[in-house]
Amino acid sequence: MTQPTRSSDVTWHEGQVLRADRERLLGQRGAVVWFTGLSGSGKSTIAVAVEASLIGAGRLCYRVDGDNLRHGLNQNLGFSPIDRAENVRRTGEVCRILADTGVIVLASLVSPFRAERERVREMHAAAKIPFLEVFVDVPLEVAESRDPKGLYRKARAGEIKDFTGIDQPYEAPTACELVLPAARQSVDACALQVVQMLRDRHIV
Ligand code: ADX
Repeated sequence: MTQPTRSSDVTWHEGQVLRADRERLLGQRGAVVWFTGLSGSGKSTIAVAVEASLIGAGRLCYRVDGDNLRHGLNQNLGFSPIDRAENVRRTGEVCRILADTGVIVLASLVSPFRAERERVREMHAAAKIPFLEVFVDVPLEVAESRDPKGLYRKARAGEIKDFTGIDQPYEAPTACELVLPAARQSVDACALQVVQMLRDRHIV
């Protein structure tokens, strides 16, 4: 993929309403919870449980799922390292915009490369939006034995290339806000830990 270049003839238009105004309206703080981990680790399942819990508690949140975005916004991207980098960058931008509305964003993407996740973190730091990276820590053997979409089998058979954990690396976070031992802990217990983290950080 060739990188699009930005024209220098564009200016930023400031509005009259601030994020703080929207947050006051909603009674919460915009933030991004970024779930990273192997395919089949349970990122999306945990995000769904967190979403249900937050909505149940009257908090506005929105799930941004890697697989789902690949049906639309990111449908022109594959799984080469360059395409994944662009996938993570674009998704990070979407998260930043949504969080700027005051919503709590629950992003679930494999996002296997540390440097790309770091870039998304920096983008949020620059916008002063809390960015909470959550590592859904499941060993490859466990994710592969679950194989909910049959993709590990295909990758082992050589029918899919560039599969994370098989013929492309997964770089686990070294410094993230939360590690979920999702191989030996239930989905509900993981979701509870995420909600508690949001409480501890006064986001909800
Ligand atoms: S990311 O690496 O660019 O962040 P993303 O989360 O959007 O990946 O998409 C990963 C999902 O695409 C997996 O959950 C899986 O369902 C599917 N998939 C298809 N091919 C691959 C592949 N080669 N590597 C990883 N996931 C794949």
